[in-house]
Amino acid sequence: MKSKIHLLAAFTAILTIATFWISTVVVELGGDPQAIAYVKNLIVMPGLFILVPAIAITGMTGFFLSQSRSGRLIDSKKKRMPFIAANGLLILLPSAIMLNLWAADGNFTTQFYIVQGLELVAGPVNLILMGLSVRDGFKMKGRFRTKS
Ligand code: HEM
Repeated sequence: MKSKIHLLAAFTAILTIATFWISTVVVELGGDPQAIAYVKNLIVMPGLFILVPAIAITGMTGFFLSQSRSGRLIDSKKKRMPFIAANGLLILLPSAIMLNLWAADGNFTTQFYIVQGLELVAGPVNLILMGLSVRDGFKMKGRFRTKS
């Protein structure tokens, strides 16, 4: 059960970050300020209310699941998690809030694009770190083993 929750939370977090990234790029390439403000608002609500619990649940269930385990794969997952959480809480979360406030005011100045650039880099960094943890999780569950 915990393993299923871990899997679901992990994929929810990954899908949410990927959705933030793709919708941001699409809407900003379109350039319509109202559409940008709309997407920036959706990223905060409901976006962050999905992402933050998903990352927290992934981490908590992961640490529960790992209590009876040791080894290289679990150590790598444990070491990666603080970077994933910090990136989420210290970069993605405040950026999404600031970008939403600025976009709502039509405030598309240099600071908007600096923070937007930072957010667009931080997202894929977390996707890579999470992807590595998915790979290690699947290895631990033996999902890559071929049937003989
Ligand atoms: C965002 C970070 C993480 C992602 C994306 C992630 C993803 C996954 C995935 C996809 C699986 C395979 C589940 C399955 O096939 O049913 C898994 C398994 C596992 N993960 Fe994570 N994980 C993350 C963080 C952690 C952390 C921080 C820990 C512990 C410190 C951890 C511990 C485990 C353990 C022990 C398993 C094996 C579960 C079992 O054998 O039932 N994970 N993880």
